[in-house]
Amino acid sequence: MQNTIRINEDVTYLGSSDRRIALFENSYPLTNGVSYNTYLIDDGETALLDTADSAVMQAFMENLFSVLKGRKLDHIIIQHMEPDHCASLGLVVENFPEAKVYGTMQVKKMVQQFFGIDLGERFVTVKEGDTLSVGKHTLQFVAAPMVHWPEVMMTYDTCDKILYSADAFGTFGALSGNLYADECDSWTADLAEARRYYTNIVGKYGNNVQAVLKKAQNLEISMICPLHGPVIRKDLGYYLDKYDKWSSYTPEDKGVVIVYGSIYGGTANAADCLATRLAAKGVKNIKMYDVSKTHVSELVAEAFRVSHLVLAAPTLDAGLFPAMETLLLELKRKNLCKRTVALIENGTWAPVAAKEITGILESMKDMSILPEKLTIRSTAAPGDEAALEALANALAADLNQ
Ligand code: FEO
Repeated sequence: MQNTIRINEDVTYLGSSDRRIALFENSYPLTNGVSYNTYLIDDGETALLDTADSAVMQAFMENLFSVLKGRKLDHIIIQHMEPDHCASLGLVVENFPEAKVYGTMQVKKMVQQFFGIDLGERFVTVKEGDTLSVGKHTLQFVAAPMVHWPEVMMTYDTCDKILYSADAFGTFGALSGNLYADECDSWTADLAEARRYYTNIVGKYGNNVQAVLKKAQNLEISMICPLHGPVIRKDLGYYLDKYDKWSSYTPEDKGVVIVYGSIYGGTANAADCLATRLAAKGVKNIKMYDVSKTHVSELVAEAFRVSHLVLAAPTLDAGLFPAMETLLLELKRKNLCKRTVALIENGTWAPVAAKEITGILESMKDMSILPEKLTIRSTAAPGDEAALEALANALAADLNQ
């Protein structure tokens, strides 16, 4: 049965959610699925904004036919060619042979590469500032390269002031009846999932996001319709502020996240001892994670959130504990910068973990490493108390600056 939601008299939500999916992009764990959003503008002419993932293709097509009510589809706008939004394109172009397909210059080639579809003369290349009028709605295309792929564009409707934002302003999590962010807690109560989505999917491309945010400042926006998660129609400033912080790598919170790796418990104990001393010095809301038990996507999101990190790791095979190395390489890949880091290392006979961590941090931009590091041998011992206290003092003082 068709399942659509009317947004205004001309615009309808046609998307659908997949709760069976375990890993987004076969990489990021999902506990409550994800939505694939598509929108139809039904004006003098009809325009479809993106299609949908193959997992929801049947529901999406049923929704599309039901909303068109026998009308033909005139325009298909591809804002983002990634298959989670484009896997149903073949079925749509087959069913609506008269529809023109719009996208930036890379789209046609990508469609051919992924799906073997030659869009031929049906494809219309559009670029920044180009417009498409479908009646009283005029759609203005806004280039958004690398948010999240090079071909991405957003679409601004000058009639109802809706910004169709592609992957930007999306979040993990299926929709459960409530379409709008102000009707559900996908963003607000569970900002962690929105942050995890942003930092892992788009986090690397902060400069590109900043460029788009600057363009958005010149637009009067009534509503943001992303490709995942709820539609945003209230408190737009809250969401724009979050995106500004995340994309400029500005910490949201002055606070500490401690991430430790531990083989036999010694490093975990040292990290716990540091946390207790920090708390005694008045540091609040300390978060601790075992790097071997927490998915790296959650740790990336937490590293974007706070100003200070403690990384505690053992030495393994004359190198860095692998899970910690994976985390650091992921943080580097996401271009995290402007953080202060304190180090705890462990090594029973030849500790090198701090040196290895330092090497990676020094290859990142604007990362400060506190000089007061703690080195333990197998387990923290009474002789380590002074170094532990010095590390806690240095970190607490830096947090209070
Ligand atoms: Fe939701 Fe970059 O695809």
